[in-house]
Amino acid sequence: MRAFAFCALCAAVFFQSCSSREGMSVSSPDGSIVLSFSTDSAGSPLWQASVDGKPFIEPSSLGFDIDVFPGGSSEPSSHDLVSGMEVSSVKKGGEDYVWEQPWGENKTIRCHYNEMAVALSSDCGAFMTVRFRVFDDGIGFRYEVACPGADSLRVTEERTGFAFAKDGDSWSIPADFNTYELDYRTMPLEKVPDANTPMTFRTSEGIYGSIHEAALKDYPEMTLKADEASGSQAAAAFTTSLAPWPDGVKARFAGDSFVTPWRTVQIGRKAVDLINSSLILNLNDPCELEDTEWIKPMKYVGIWWGMHTGVQTWKMDERHGATTANAKKYIDFAADNNIEGVVFEGWNEGWESWGGMQSFDFTRPYADFDIDEVMAYAKERGVSVIGHHETGANIPNYERQLENAYRWSAEKGMHYVKTGYAGGVPGGHFRHGQYAVRHYRKVVETAARYEISLDVHEPIKETGIRRTYPNMMTLEGAKGMEWNAWSAGNPPVHYVTLPFTRLLSGPMDYTPGVFDVLLESTKDHPDRRKWNDLDKGDSRVNTTLAAQIACWVVLYSPLQMASDMIENYEGHPAFQFFRDFDADCDWSEALAGEPGEFVVVVRRAGEKYFLGAVTGDNARTVEVPLDFLAEGKSYKAVIYADGPDADWKTNPCSYVISERIVTSSDTLSVAMASGGGQAVTFIPEDQDNLG
Ligand code: NOJ
Ligand code: CA
Repeated sequence: MRAFAFCALCAAVFFQSCSSREGMSVSSPDGSIVLSFSTDSAGSPLWQASVDGKPFIEPSSLGFDIDVFPGGSSEPSSHDLVSGMEVSSVKKGGEDYVWEQPWGENKTIRCHYNEMAVALSSDCGAFMTVRFRVFDDGIGFRYEVACPGADSLRVTEERTGFAFAKDGDSWSIPADFNTYELDYRTMPLEKVPDANTPMTFRTSEGIYGSIHEAALKDYPEMTLKADEASGSQAAAAFTTSLAPWPDGVKARFAGDSFVTPWRTVQIGRKAVDLINSSLILNLNDPCELEDTEWIKPMKYVGIWWGMHTGVQTWKMDERHGATTANAKKYIDFAADNNIEGVVFEGWNEGWESWGGMQSFDFTRPYADFDIDEVMAYAKERGVSVIGHHETGANIPNYERQLENAYRWSAEKGMHYVKTGYAGGVPGGHFRHGQYAVRHYRKVVETAARYEISLDVHEPIKETGIRRTYPNMMTLEGAKGMEWNAWSAGNPPVHYVTLPFTRLLSGPMDYTPGVFDVLLESTKDHPDRRKWNDLDKGDSRVNTTLAAQIACWVVLYSPLQMASDMIENYEGHPAFQFFRDFDADCDWSEALAGEPGEFVVVVRRAGEKYFLGAVTGDNARTVEVPLDFLAEGKSYKAVIYADGPDADWKTNPCSYVISERIVTSSDTLSVAMASGGGQAVTFIPEDQDNLG
């Protein structure tokens, strides 16, 4: 498939100019969201928005503080683009088209928006266009700044405001320029001191929204901080706080212009509308790759959980996980269980220095891992190998090897690489600053040249880059499964918060599916050694077994891992779900849910459907109409449910598998235990009979 295969629905693109002070508003195609622009008496640009005729965002600031380096001078002059601005033109337009992606929650996406580009000139000689796009599912706007004649520019502060008309509840992690692996908080908007994005909220009028950004490239990440100074009208107000360079500068650009990522607000009347929104992808640039045939979603297993639970090691010693023999065992298991891929961590030299100098070598396998033998065996058994590059966040060391490492991997036949950045970035850089954003992009582009797809751990946040580079397949970027191996772990509420926060930005490599929920097979194992300070010896997965299965559906990732050690799957009846599961879905819909409470998601892959439902601490039954199934067809529904006596705390592994024949006119009662879940495979009866 060619990634540029856009099929036009009614490919309307229109633009028209307005005189400067008239018509400074633009509404969504359905008219429900209205965004207005104005300048106040000081020439400060402001944006505001209403939803369903009611104030949603009160007048909020726009602009920057910048340093301009004029041609031939090393001394900058400092200016602000937040006052003294005058509107020079307002252009309106829009687009309506359908595009296709090689993989995704939905393969076909409609992009339909109205646009207003407000061009402003500053009394310091700079020009700033604010380009607003309003969709039925939210708002995006970005800045395009030009300072003619400048040699280079620096952003010292971005001053985008988000002033809420109404208070409400919110779900977010704290702002942190180095990590997203933090616990989620539920708090009133007005109490949030700072937050990373996506920050999701429900206003007191029942409107759901989420603030994030799209197309983050060559710019630092945006976080939010409470803005006490903002107008008294607002119920809660935030301003942007960008991850800085070590010298405090927020962004630096060669030349006389720059364009920012999109600042986004997804908007819905139901919480699940946020999950079903394509706003972030629609604000990214179309695919840059000519050919995307080589980019394939897949299920995978790997040599991984043994290291996290402490019974194996990454480094080469008597407990080494990634040996040739173990690798072959995993390849066999994958081949025998309809699983397309395998990851091997700890295959390469350098793990002795993890936590210290962090100098890994990405083309030197350990002596007990025969890469050629492993690759030949994987090929023979039809399994793809995911290479692993733990960089320890030593970006200079990784960039020195980048080209060679990706060429070498491709030559060996490895067309997937999982990267990791566990550690501090040398030189005082933040992991989320512009320096690191440039690095993460360089890796994606280098990998694309060698036809290698990526799974990035400790990444820069997802902002929809996968539309432009579909080889950027999945990322971690929140507390994942590993935390359950060596810390107090992720509470049940985490699983029903992620879909409404982190997952709104794109796929997540959470790596669900641990069946040995209580870690019984490793806890007292003679080989087990504590390796992480947070390990108190009582770690476990804080859900039921059925919830872990449901997470394969709920927590979308085009590379979906069954993360337990294969011994815990062998002979387990419930593993049939993963055998049947297809990571390459065509269509998805979040059917019901509330942040922090529960969620129900269905995905279609070919003619099969997979349903996943997860609840937080409260046991509940959700009635799910099956009207998403093809009309007039009968399906065999295989139901993986919590047992009647299941409870994540006291009896997590009680499960029941049942079967029934259903059609689109049936309703399924999805009963879930506390911290539980349910997963269902729907196989068309005619296909099932064919075996
Ligand atoms: C952190 C990653 O999230 C995890 O998956 C990996 O095993 C370790 N780093 C070691 O690379
Ligand atoms: Ca991690």
